[in-house]
Amino acid sequence: VSGEPLSLAESLRRAQQQGLARIDAQLLHLLALGRPLQERAWLLAHDDHMLDADAQGHIAALVARRLAQEPMAYITGHKAFHGLMLQIDARVLDPRPDTETLVDWALSLIPNDRPQRVLDLGTGSGAIALAIAQNRPQAQVVAMDASADALAVAQGNAQRLNLPVELLHSHWFEALGGLANRPFDVIVSNPPYIAQGDVHLNALQHEPQEALVSGPDGLDDIRHIVAHAPLHLRAGGWLLLEHGHDQADAVQALFTQQGWRHVKSQRDMAGIARCTGAQPPDSGDNSVL
Ligand SMILES: C[S@@+](CC[C@H](N)C(=O)[O-])C[C@H]1O[C@@H](n2cnc3c(N)ncnc32)[C@H](O)[C@@H]1O
Repeated sequence: VSGEPLSLAESLRRAQQQGLARIDAQLLHLLALGRPLQERAWLLAHDDHMLDADAQGHIAALVARRLAQEPMAYITGHKAFHGLMLQIDARVLDPRPDTETLVDWALSLIPNDRPQRVLDLGTGSGAIALAIAQNRPQAQVVAMDASADALAVAQGNAQRLNLPVELLHSHWFEALGGLANRPFDVIVSNPPYIAQGDVHLNALQHEPQEALVSGPDGLDDIRHIVAHAPLHLRAGGWLLLEHGHDQADAVQALFTQQGWRHVKSQRDMAGIARCTGAQPPDSGDNSVL
C-alpha cells in the first residue's frame, strides 16, 4: 500500500495480477468496503471510485489471506451449499460443491411423503444434514461429529436456518450405543478420506486436519463406518459415502467383501465417481460384527 489514491478498477486489476480469480478479487473488495457480497454490479458501476489508504490496507490484508490459500468461505464467513447459505469458519471443513452429489443421491432415496430416519456422520458445518432437512420436512435427521467445535458451527447453522436437526457429539456410531435401537433408513457421510502425507494436504493447511486425514491409505474411517453401519441400518436401507476421486473401486470392494448388496457409485458434476453406497447385508450377516 503506497498511500497514493487508487481507483477501484486499478485495485481489482492488481489483485488479479497477483494471482486472484476475478470473482474472488471482486468479493474481497466488496467485503473490505463493507458492501453486500451480492453487489458485484456495484463494483462495475463505481470502478472510478477512489480508495483511501484505510480501504487499500484492508483490501491488501484480505488479498494476502486468499493468496495464502485460505478458503474464501473462511474469509467471508459464508458458503452457499445446495441452496442454503451456511456460516462457515476455520472450525469446520469448507463444504465442497462435489458434496451436493451425495445430498442429491440421498434425496432420491428418501421419500417426501412419510417420516424417514436419516443419519449424517461427521456433519462438520451441518451442510449435508441441513440440506436433507430442508428438502425432506418429514425426515428425522440426526447429525453427529467428534469435534465439539464443528457441532457448535452446525448448531448455529441449524438455528439460523430454523431446520430441525438433532446434533450429537460422537466418535462415529458410539453415541448410539451398541444396540440397534434406532435403525436408520439412510446413513450418509463425507468422512475424512485423504491419506497421511498426501500432497493435496499442502493446499489444505487452513482446514481442520481431523476433517481430512484418515490413515495411511485414506480409508481408515470409511472401513470403520462400513464395518459398523449394518447395526444401525434397517434392512433395505442405504449407506452412502463420499470418497476421494480415485477411491471408488476400493470402497466398492470394501462393501462387497462384507456382503453389502446393490453396491454402486455416483458421479459428481465433473464426471468423477465421487460417492459409493450400498444396502446392508441380510441381517443374518450382522452376527459376524
Ligand atoms: C470431510 S469433513 C465433512 C464435513 C461435512 N459433512 C461436509 O461435507 O462438509 C469430515 C468430518 O468428520 C468429522 N470426523 C472426523 N473423525 C470423526 C470421528 N471419529 N467421528 C465422528 N466424526 C469425525 C470431522 O470433524 C469433520 O467434521
